[in-house]
Amino acid sequence: MSETTDFAAAIRTIPDYPKPGIMFRDITTLLASPEAFRAAVDAMVAPYTDDGVALVAGIEARGFILGGAMSHQLSAGFVPIRKKGKLPLETIRVAYSLEYGVDEMEVHRDAVVPGSRVLLTDDLIATGGTAEAAVKLLRELGAEIVGACFVIDLPELGGRRRLEEMGVSVKTLVTFDGH
Ligand code: PRP
Ligand code: MG
Repeated sequence: MSETTDFAAAIRTIPDYPKPGIMFRDITTLLASPEAFRAAVDAMVAPYTDDGVALVAGIEARGFILGGAMSHQLSAGFVPIRKKGKLPLETIRVAYSLEYGVDEMEVHRDAVVPGSRVLLTDDLIATGGTAEAAVKLLRELGAEIVGACFVIDLPELGGRRRLEEMGVSVKTLVTFDGH
């Protein structure tokens, strides 16, 4: 892990997107920086290098970018957790809450050999609703969840606590106050 990379400075904040009052934390600037992207992936995988991770599960969409790189670094496989209707074979689904209404995430029914050690990742944890849905899907498939890691934590929205209450350990690189 790089001690010198300022991850917060590598993330761009866009006020009032997608609606007034929301501060959108945009990781495209971090991804576009060769130094920051490598340092972020290094820091994300560092706690888990000796944990026997067989699979990294990434949440659509930005979790795919991070999770692909993390899988490569850990010599693990990758499992996509997708918005409904995108996967071609038999899936299991779980509903989760969005700010307005609900949506569903899904995963292939055969994506995880029961008992496999799985690391979950996404770019950001806010309310934790998305990550909670992913944990439910992975556990239904028999995964042993080694942990969940995110670039950004918005602790005021309670997502980290929500996952920890499910028995999932959470690691993040950057904390932003407020929404
Ligand atoms: C954002 C973010 C996380 C999720 C976190 O994704 O990338 O996946 O919200 O929110 P939560 O902790 O309150 O559930 P978004 O739903 O905007 O979809 P996208 O990644 O496909 O753009
Ligand atoms: Mg997302």
